[in-house]
Amino acid sequence: LMDKRRRGGIEAAEAVESGMDVGLGTGSTTAWAIAAIGWKLREGELEDVRGVATSLQSHDLARELGIPLTDVDEFDSLDVAIDGADQWDPEHPHVVKGGGASHAREKLIDSMADRLVVATDDEKRSTPLSHDVPLSVLPESRNVAQEWVRDAGGDPSLRYAEAKDGPLFTANGNLVVDCDFGEIDDVDARAADLARIPGAQEHGLFVEMVDEVVYGTDESVERVEF
Ligand code: A5P
Repeated sequence: LMDKRRRGGIEAAEAVESGMDVGLGTGSTTAWAIAAIGWKLREGELEDVRGVATSLQSHDLARELGIPLTDVDEFDSLDVAIDGADQWDPEHPHVVKGGGASHAREKLIDSMADRLVVATDDEKRSTPLSHDVPLSVLPESRNVAQEWVRDAGGDPSLRYAEAKDGPLFTANGNLVVDCDFGEIDDVDARAADLARIPGAQEHGLFVEMVDEVVYGTDESVERVEF
């Protein structure tokens, strides 16, 4: 599994060219893309690249690798973003994200990019999407939000942080409700259901956002373009 992700991540870094402003995604696959960008900068294969991280983890990794970083506020748009996914659909340009609870910042940065390249592996492929959709909510809205998810036909569960034996808080102090809707045939309708929930901050359905998926398999790297 780690080999597939390494292949997918490193190949996805090919989308970056000198002079580009780049969104840096979150997760173990994107970590390889960040590493590859760092190596290329060091070797002089790339220059004048600026990164904007989607999470504290990717910020610190990019910093360690010497990638010049700047804040999202500096930009109105980015040339490209490379990000991971929890599930992707080879037939449609949608993904489910938020396994790392960073989907709000990821959605902001990924949507600012002229091109979103998803770095992933073949095991996370599914048509239609059926992964639990994370929904970040204001802490005080957690019960109401779960009730709305049930009313929309979903099965919600509050994400738990094993280490603290209590609910997981995001970097913005929100809680995460993971919503099981089974197979998601109508992503637009699902996205709308989640967006109208009182106290909802952001959900992990990225609709019509993907330009390219670069995914590792056991032997190679494949890509799907939208
Ligand atoms: C973070 O919130 C997620 O959207 C990640 O992009 C996702 O969990 C991918 O991580 P891996 O590459 O480690 O599977």
